[in-house]
This record gives sequence, C-alpha cells and structure tokens, in this order.
Amino acid sequence: MIEVENLTKHYGPRRAINNLSFQIAQGEVVGFLGPNGAGKSTTLNILSCILPASSGTARIMGHDTFEHSLEIRKKIGYLPETPPLYQDMNVRDYLKFAAQVRGVSGKQITSAVERVIGKCSLADVSHRIIGRLSKGYQQRVGLAQAMVHDPDILILDEPTVGLDPIQIIEIRKLIQELAASHTIILSSHILPEITQICQRVIIINEGEIAAVDSLEGLTASLRKSERLSLTLRNSGDQVEEKLKSLQQVLSVLPEENNRFLLECELNSNLQDEIARLALDNKWGLVEIKPLSMTLEDIFLKLTIEEKDVTV
Ligand SMILES: Nc1ncnc2c1ncn2[C@@H]1O[C@H](COP(=O)(O)OP(=O)(O)O)[C@@H](O)[C@H]1O
Ligand SMILES: [Mg+2]
Repeated sequence: MIEVENLTKHYGPRRAINNLSFQIAQGEVVGFLGPNGAGKSTTLNILSCILPASSGTARIMGHDTFEHSLEIRKKIGYLPETPPLYQDMNVRDYLKFAAQVRGVSGKQITSAVERVIGKCSLADVSHRIIGRLSKGYQQRVGLAQAMVHDPDILILDEPTVGLDPIQIIEIRKLIQELAASHTIILSSHILPEITQICQRVIIINEGEIAAVDSLEGLTASLRKSERLSLTLRNSGDQVEEKLKSLQQVLSVLPEENNRFLLECELNSNLQDEIARLALDNKWGLVEIKPLSMTLEDIFLKLTIEEKDVTV
C-alpha cells in the first residue's frame, strides 16, 4: 500500500533523511518513532505530496507521490504537525470548505461533513469559531479535515503533541477507533503512544532507519540478555555475591525492598537454580519473574548506539 525506496531529502546542504526504505501493508497501523529532528515530518510531508524528495521514491497504492500527487491526495488524509486550520471560521464551514478543496462532490458535502463531525465528536462545537476552541478540539478538527473525503490512508504527524493528558487520551482513543477501518501511519516521539496504538514500529534516528519490526519482534530481537526480578523476604548476607556466583548471571542490581534485578544470559532458565539457592540460604523466596525489555529501553539503546557510531 505504501512503498518507500531509498528516500533521501536534503534541505540545502543539510540532509534530513537518508536512504529510507520501508513498506506498509493495507490495514496496518504503523508507528513512526524518533526523537525531535529525526526526519519524521520530512518523510510524512513527502508521503503526503507536500514536499518533493531529493532522491528515491515513495509510492502509495502504486502511484508515485511526486508524479501522481492528485491521485494520491484523494486517497490519503494528512494531519500535519501544525494543522491547516482557519482560526476565524466556524467548525462546520471550515469542514465544508475542506471537503470542497478535497474534491467531494457538491451533493455529498453535507453528508461528508456530518460524518466527520460525528466521528470526531464535534457536534457540540460545530458552530463555534475554531480559534476559540481548546487545543484538543482543534486537533479533532484537524483530524476531521484529514478525513472529510473518506480516505483509506491516514498520515498523522505527532497528533497528540501539545495536548493535555485528558485530550491525549481522547485523541488516542479516536485514532484507535479509526484504526479499525484505515491504514494509519502515525509519528511520535512518545513511546507509550506507539505501544498503545500501533502494531508495528519504524524507528528513525538522525534521518536513518534504526529498526523496523513488530513491537514484540523488536523487543525479542534486540534482547541480548534476559532480565529476572527476584524478591526475597529476608535480606540475608551475601545475597548479591551468591547470585553473582551462578554461572550465566551477568549482573545483579539490588533494588528497594529486597528486590534484585538480575541480568542473565539468553535462555539460561535460571529460575530453578535461583529458587534452590534461596531455599538453601533461607532467603524466603517471595517472587521470581522474567522482565521483558520495554520499547523505551530499546529506543534508548538504538539511539545511543547510533550516536556511538557517529561520535
Ligand atoms: N524547511 C527546512 N529547512 C531546513 N532544514 C529543515 C527544514 N525542515 C526540517 N529541517 C531539518 O531536517 C531535520 C529533520 O527535521 P524533521 O523532519 O522536522 O524532523 P522530526 O519531524 O522528526 O522532528 C532536522 O534537522 C531539521 O532541522
Ligand atoms: Mg516533526
């Protein structure tokens, strides 16, 4: 559905993205994750036919974003970082205007506007002036204008940036609802957002792809060691030393309340041995459980490793 091949963009001498390649299938909800300045908006602007690439291609439903931008604009809905809202228009008039611009035919404009007003829960504010709405409502208007021509694909650039926590929850819920019937690419520099909404993630850093994988796949493939959390009732002597003496235990980190974080070699299945050690030493085993690596760990690791290479 979306095919990006060796996409590169220079702004003058500055290279914003370098040789990006990825694909997105129909119905997928993909997170485009990266720190500020990574090249997310640049990429999404190219996908949305706003910006030409310096080299490489981006195709949507078989159409080149540069050569067939009219075709593509009908099929995509774009919510840019700063939504193109007319601050002094009221919501309904603005959405009518957006529908006209997107080529919705005259007869269908009213029903298209009513549809997105319903979907984005804008009925209560449909007669209000956009500039006087809260940022959360303005973002919903932004989403509504992106969807007024009923596109198959939604491209959303940091849709929750600048919103308060309640507005963030509402917008995420709305995106989750839209995910049932759209292909969505959503950029963010916020990890929990991606884990909550997306099935797959493309991590971009300094204009290059650092990883493309499912959330589970990414966690698994990057894990070079396993972590166990061990909780004891008694803080016996030499707990740390004895745990460290086990083969395959790479490190032991004491935490609060007799909890220890153990870094172990992959597939070491140390639970039995640790339980035996706890019994023999009367440590009072309360809990022993494997910990999965969070996406945040991975993200940090990837971006730090990338930096290490360039330093
Ligand atoms: N119009 C522009 N002119 C010059 N440099 C730009 C322009 N837009 C973005 N950049 C630079 O390109 C890089 C990527 O920016 P951007 O795509 O906006 O990243 P992100 O959306 O991930 O924060 C940054 O270094 C940014 O400063
Ligand atoms: Mg951006």
